Amino acid sequence: MTSNNNPLLSKLYIHVDVGGGETMVAGQLIVDRVRRTGAFKYARGYCRDERAYPLDPINLPLVEGAIYETPITRDNLGVAGALLDAGPDDWGRRVLMALLDPPPSNDLEFLLSGSGNGTGTIFFTESRGGCAMQEVPVKMLPKEFQSLEDIMETAIRLDEGLPVEKEKAMFFEYGSGLGGVRPKTFVDEVQYNKELGEKRVDRWIVKFPRKTDLVDHCLLEHATMKMAKEAGCDVVDTKIMETARGPVLLVKRFDVETDGERHHVVSAKSLIGPMPENAGARAELESYPNIGRIIGQVSESSEQETRELFRRMLFNIAVGNVDDHPKNHSFSKPPGKKQMQLTPAYDVLPTVGIEGSPQAISVGPFGGHQNPKAIASCAEAMGIGEEEAEEIAQDVLAATKDWEEKMLDEGLTPKEVNIVRKSMASRAHVQAYLASMGSEEREREKRTKGISMSR
Ligand SMILES: Nc1ncnc2c1ncn2[C@@H]1O[C@H](COP(=O)(O)OP(=O)(O)O)[C@@H](O)[C@H]1O
Ligand SMILES: [Mg+2]
Repeated sequence: MTSNNNPLLSKLYIHVDVGGGETMVAGQLIVDRVRRTGAFKYARGYCRDERAYPLDPINLPLVEGAIYETPITRDNLGVAGALLDAGPDDWGRRVLMALLDPPPSNDLEFLLSGSGNGTGTIFFTESRGGCAMQEVPVKMLPKEFQSLEDIMETAIRLDEGLPVEKEKAMFFEYGSGLGGVRPKTFVDEVQYNKELGEKRVDRWIVKFPRKTDLVDHCLLEHATMKMAKEAGCDVVDTKIMETARGPVLLVKRFDVETDGERHHVVSAKSLIGPMPENAGARAELESYPNIGRIIGQVSESSEQETRELFRRMLFNIAVGNVDDHPKNHSFSKPPGKKQMQLTPAYDVLPTVGIEGSPQAISVGPFGGHQNPKAIASCAEAMGIGEEEAEEIAQDVLAATKDWEEKMLDEGLTPKEVNIVRKSMASRAHVQAYLASMGSEEREREKRTKGISMSR
């Protein structure tokens, strides 16, 4: 792990995995603190290599010689979103602060320190030559899981900002470049098939509980992801691992294939681009219809993925997942391909504690409100016909109908189910949407009947 003691660090080299275990210098980031801007430029050799791909096809298209500037703001040191996506968020920063002395103190230092320990294909170095792609430590599940209680204890202590032993904190180094707020790390599950003499590696993100949780989040996320799958959403696989300290959640990684080949990953937040000051303009950009437009710009199967996004939106509304912010939607470029695609859904669960809030991103023209008009306008903006939207809404309602039973089956207690009830009351929004479609149709029928009778 790179410890960095240079508070004036102003330049990073960006390397990417181009497949087959090879990396290339993709470009350079220079932050000019006086001009208060960061500038990213692709390397010439990279632009001319057939394996090259843009780190962000909308905001950083692969153009030789182009310089992309990002102004330094209060919460960003002039680093383009696609690069920040490859670095740690709240949780990873907490881990790095516990592991490094002195701790990293700005975005560049965090990117450098967490380099290679996050998702996707991007790595950072301070000098041009310095990136032999970091050896990813293989974490054998059977061995590690004997001490998972220990790891969980450490996760909880790190999460609370309490001191932890360095050796225990080191377990989290591998996931220190990961995004999100909740405690998590990576594990690789290695299975041997003796008969076939084959080895299979499944790669997971492990998510741990937090002391402040009102409900067991691991069980809740697992139960919700299962319902999302039943509702026809394309979701990552999840499973629960029981430990003496309670359940932990394993989420199958979408950014690495079983053979180790990596997907380049960019969040919807980065693809949306820089945010204007004006609240109305922000609400329009951070919206389901706009993510739909982005799908149209970057994906080959845009029609199918736009429908998928609409389905996810209705599901999020139904289960009261109001934490559907633009970092909880991502795009990935699979190894060997040029185009991006919407990743499977992740981090989908009722947002306990702020029930009844609007969605984090806009549904209709007036923000995240979930009323039938807003949902209908979203369907229209995404080019989804009434019949199809109705089918999707029905799928979502059918999959969430017996939610109590399903959550109890997954191990949530009746008391926890009661807490989640307030979030699940949001199913009523989807029911109201369905009812509104029916009523419009009835109105139309009445009108046509009226016309034929008067004839
Ligand atoms: N299955 C996955 N495969 C690869 N990356 C993932 C996966 N799930 C989440 N991520 C990445 O990790 C980040 C954090 O995960 P998330 O489940 O959203 O955590 P949190 O609950 O802390 O927000 C996401 O924003 C995404 O970039
Ligand atoms: Mg998240």
